[in-house]
Order: sequence, then C-alpha cells, then structure tokens
Amino acid sequence: MELTAADIAAAVGGELTGRAEAVAHSFVIDTRQLEAGGCFVALVAERDGHDFVPDAWARGATIALVGREVATPNDRASVRVQEPLDGLRALGAMARDRLRRAVVVGVTGSAGKTATKDLLTAALESTRTVHSSPASFNNEAGVPLTLLGAPLDAEAVVAEMGARFAGNIAALCEVARPDAGIVTNVGLAHAGLLGGPEGIARAKGELLEALPAHGLAVFEAGTAVAGQLRSSTEARVLTVGGEEVPGADVRVRRVRLDDDLRPHFELDTPWGSASVQLALRGEHQVQNAAMAAAVAGDLGVPLDELAAGLGRAVAAPGRMQLLRGSGGVVVLNDAYNASPPSTAAALRSLARLPVRGRKIAVLGEMRELGEHAGTEHEAIGRLAAECGVRVLVLVGDGARPVARGAQQASTPHAVEIVAVADAEAARVAACDLVRAGDAVLVKASRAVGLELVAEALMGAAVDA
Ligand SMILES: Nc1ncnc2c1ncn2[C@@H]1O[C@H](COP(=O)(O)OP(=O)(O)OP(=O)(O)O)[C@@H](O)[C@H]1O
Ligand SMILES: [Mg+2]
Repeated sequence: MELTAADIAAAVGGELTGRAEAVAHSFVIDTRQLEAGGCFVALVAERDGHDFVPDAWARGATIALVGREVATPNDRASVRVQEPLDGLRALGAMARDRLRRAVVVGVTGSAGKTATKDLLTAALESTRTVHSSPASFNNEAGVPLTLLGAPLDAEAVVAEMGARFAGNIAALCEVARPDAGIVTNVGLAHAGLLGGPEGIARAKGELLEALPAHGLAVFEAGTAVAGQLRSSTEARVLTVGGEEVPGADVRVRRVRLDDDLRPHFELDTPWGSASVQLALRGEHQVQNAAMAAAVAGDLGVPLDELAAGLGRAVAAPGRMQLLRGSGGVVVLNDAYNASPPSTAAALRSLARLPVRGRKIAVLGEMRELGEHAGTEHEAIGRLAAECGVRVLVLVGDGARPVARGAQQASTPHAVEIVAVADAEAARVAACDLVRAGDAVLVKASRAVGLELVAEALMGAAVDA
C-alpha cells in the first residue's frame, strides 16, 4: 500500500523532516530488500539500522522511519519517533484499518505455520485477491510488514504469527485484528520459554482469544488441548482430524504417499468431498492442508478450486526438499529448522522413503527446549531407531541425548552413532559414510547451520 511521509508521521506521532508529500509504496527493515520508492524502517537489533540509512537513500528509499536524527536528502523525508519498532507497529495497525475489504487470517502453531499460510494462500488465490506474509515474517516486525505489503483491494490477508514468549501473539493480534485464526498444532517448540505444554497451548490460544464472535477458529480435533483451545474463543469453531477422530468438521481419509513423499487424500468438508494431491512432502502436510481448506471453504471458495489450489502450494526452501543425486543418494533436506514435532514428522517421512540402501539421519540440536531438552532429544533417538534409521550423525553436544534414546529402543538392528562437533565436521562425516542407494535426512535448529551438509551431500551424490 502507498503512504506519504505525512501519513506516516501522523500514524506514528513522529517528527517529519524533508518532503511531506514523499510517497513510499513498500516497507522494509533490511536495505538489501529495498526497492526504489520504498520506506526503510531503521530498527535497532543485533545491528543498528541507523547505520544503513545512507545505504537506503542510495538504493532509492523515499522515506526513512528512524529513532534519531539522520541526514535527509531534500527530495526525501525522514520521520523520527522514540522507538522505530513501535512506529512500525502503529503503521501496521493503520494498514489494517485501511484494508476494509480484507478478511485477515492469523496462522500460528508449533510447526507448519509457513506451510499452512502457503497452502491457504494457494487455496484462495484463484478466486480472491490475497496477500500473505513473505517467508516466515511472523514477529513484531514481520506482521506489520505483512499488513503494509498488502494492496488496498486485498480480499484476504494471511499473516503468520510466531510466539517465543507468552503475550507475543496477543500483541500481534492487537495490530492485525484477525477475523480468522488457525492453530496448526501444539507441540514442544520453544517449550523452555513458553512454560511447557499448557503454556504453549495458552500462547497459541491468544490468537483464538483475539477473534471476534463472527470470526472463525480452526484447530485439531481430539487432542489433549482441544478443549482448552475451544474455550479460549468466542468465534465459531471448525476442527480438523483424521478418520479416527470423532466429530471433526473437516476430515481426511485414505492418505497415501507417492515415492516422492507427496500425499494424496480424500477431504470431507461441510461443503462436500474432494480428492487432493499435494506437491508438499510428508504426511504431516495433510493436516495443514485440511486446516487451510477449513478457512477457504468457510470463505466460500468452491471445493474444486480449493482442492486444486492446495495442490499448487510448493515447499519453502529447506523444508522437506527431496534431492536425488545422480550417484543414487537421496537427500531429504529439512535443515531450515527443527523442533520435536517437525523432527518427528521428518523421521516418519524418512521411514516412508523407498530406497534400497540405508536410512541415515544427520541431526543437530533442537534448541529452546529448556528443561525438556534431554527427554525430547532422547524421544527423537527412540523414534529414529523405530523408523529404521541405521546411522545417526549427531551434531554438537546438545544432540548427544539422541544417542541414548536410540540405544534404548528395542529394534532388530543396532543404530550406529557418529558424534561430531559441528556442521563442518558433520559434512565430512556424512560425505564419507554415504553410499549409493542410501537416503539421508538433514535436520537441526537453524543456528546449527546444517544446510551445508545437505548441499555437500548433493555434490557427493552427483560425483559418486
Ligand atoms: N503439522 C506439522 N506437524 C509436524 N511438523 C510439521 C507440520 N507442518 C510442517 N512441519 C515441519 O515443520 C518444519 C517447519 O515448517 P514450516 O516452515 O511450515 O513451520 P513454521 O511453523 O513456519 O516454522 P518457523 O517457526 O520456523 O517459522 C518443516 O520441517 C516441516 O516439514
Ligand atoms: Mg515459518
């Protein structure tokens, strides 16, 4: 959406220097993403955004939102506020006010927010003007940027919302004022910061609490936290589940995976039934797709359009990418991030992959689990063994308890453990042990940086 410097100064209560009529048609917090004619918001985080204001002008920024005085070219404008992040929030709230035609859908959950946001966007796209969060723009800066990026005539805005601490989602909802909300799942991600399973459910419930009575809440039926989620909202509820879950409003049945792990399934909804073929990989994407279907169906998207749309959603980088090297090695690159639910989903997917060689998993630490770290890593080790993993390459000290779990599991084959210090050592170890016909899963929290292992394995596979 387009805003003038005067609009911005009024919205944030800031002091304007330079040309009040200067117009910005895009908003960024990183000058590398700046397009000419954009507004640069100088946030102070690990780096001080004010150091990049000259770069922003050089790249064609027309407006800068800043927290201290900056040199401003005559034909541009700067708007100074006490705290630029608060300013960005105020701008996001103003953008929300201007999006009069849009239904705003918030998507939160321990895993699968980006995938569900992409599935919902794809389901709406053929019949609606829809805008959604770029990448994983899901925090106090990302949500306002999502709203500011929407065209004024948007009919739907899909905003990813992340929570590291209690109260985060409630604060995002004050800006985005969602009409509908999806909780993809409630598992132990950031458990150390959010206070265990109940704390996590409460944090995700903040999205449903913020919904108006005419709104729509979507979550999984039949889980331990379903009652807690239902009682957290005044909105109408549609639940999602498999055949085994009684009472789910949107149900999936006959789930099959092809040799590339792409699910096909039947979807039963209040609006009829449809067959769905996903391009995303892994059985866990079926539930994400059903959640997206619940919202799109409720918004009136015809079921055939909806089903076809779900099939067009593609994986974001580093999520369940399946790479087949010419040397006959299959790499399942899920190195983008890791939490207990997503690591379990990745291991179950590895188990389903038809290959003639061994199943190998290169796993690094799942971070931010607090007191749950030891038991959760052990549980992943047991699951790896049960999923038929023959070799575990464990990266860093935090991943060590995975070995204990794998050794405790009563499976017919012992699991070989290769413990290494860091991603570089994992690269060397993995390239050394992989053979034609093997399948290798690569997964860890983002900070571990295992994508270099996936890339190297592809190289090794091609060279083999
Ligand atoms: N419903 C699900 N259950 C378990 N794992 C899932 C689910 N949906 C997606 N995943 C896995 O979680 C990982 C992250 O997926 P995605 O990027 O969609 O999640 P996210 O919640 O947006 O993550 P982030 O918090 O990092 O933004 C991927 O490995 C993906 O395969
Ligand atoms: Mg995300």
